Amino acid sequence: MPAQFIDGKSLAETLRQQVGDRAKRFLSQHGRAPGLTVILVGNNPASEVYVRHKVAACEKASIVSELIRLDASCSTEALLQTIQSLNTNPNVDGILVQLPLPGHIPEKTIIEAISPNKDVDGFHPVNAGALFTGQPCLKPCTPLGVMVMLDHQKTPLRAAEAVVVGASNIVGKPLAMMLLQAGATVTICNSKTQNLEEKTRRADILIAAVGRPGLITAEMVKPGAVVIDVGINRLASGKLVGDVDFENVARVAKAITPVPGGVGPMTIAMLLQNTLDAAESVAHAQSLT
Ligand code: GUN
Repeated sequence: MPAQFIDGKSLAETLRQQVGDRAKRFLSQHGRAPGLTVILVGNNPASEVYVRHKVAACEKASIVSELIRLDASCSTEALLQTIQSLNTNPNVDGILVQLPLPGHIPEKTIIEAISPNKDVDGFHPVNAGALFTGQPCLKPCTPLGVMVMLDHQKTPLRAAEAVVVGASNIVGKPLAMMLLQAGATVTICNSKTQNLEEKTRRADILIAAVGRPGLITAEMVKPGAVVIDVGINRLASGKLVGDVDFENVARVAKAITPVPGGVGPMTIAMLLQNTLDAAESVAHAQSLT
């Protein structure tokens, strides 16, 4: 039986409407809309597209968004000053610095400069540490979106075998931690993993997050597995594909996410959700003082 397609686009749309309702409630309770500021340094073409989608999604969800564009040659100091002023701006609930940054700006310094309360990417070490230890925190949007999709699919996680291919700080590592906390037995594979197929074939839930088209073939998938494709690769033909050989894997998997229309829209929905979470949690803390 062919796999069920997991429709991230339609789930994300539902979630974005829910966030929009929360944003309207926030406005009526606090006299201002929740706010997200996105900083784009330089003009990396892929980043331009992502940032445009993020800002457009805010408008639709009644979140005030601002895009700050800085020149590719801008100094680390100038970027830090911009972040500092946003950290203390009470109308800004979320700050997102689009990555990658130009080579002369140290990513770690910039991520650490963002107030953890406004770190809607969940990249700050305070949030990463809280995730690691199971404390409430802002979580990275893409892995969070994957977890929401699995939950929506009613995929059992407790005692399931989950294999994450890709060990990035943005996706693979935080996703592995979330799966572990949900009770899965987790294997994280990286570029040095030997006998990848032997590991992936164990997976009840297989996550591909590497950025290599066609990496996961049908032979690497256990029949009946749930396959989540986080990869977004543009082929020379212009076609957008994931890391999974979709057509053939769909013949063996129980469920599979398409690219585009799978994980991508969920990432943006989670960014909006994180912005609302950040706004509400600061407002709640202020109401207690
Ligand atoms: N570049 C690619 N993905 C991301 C993301 O999730 N957040 C940020 N800030 N930059 C990215």
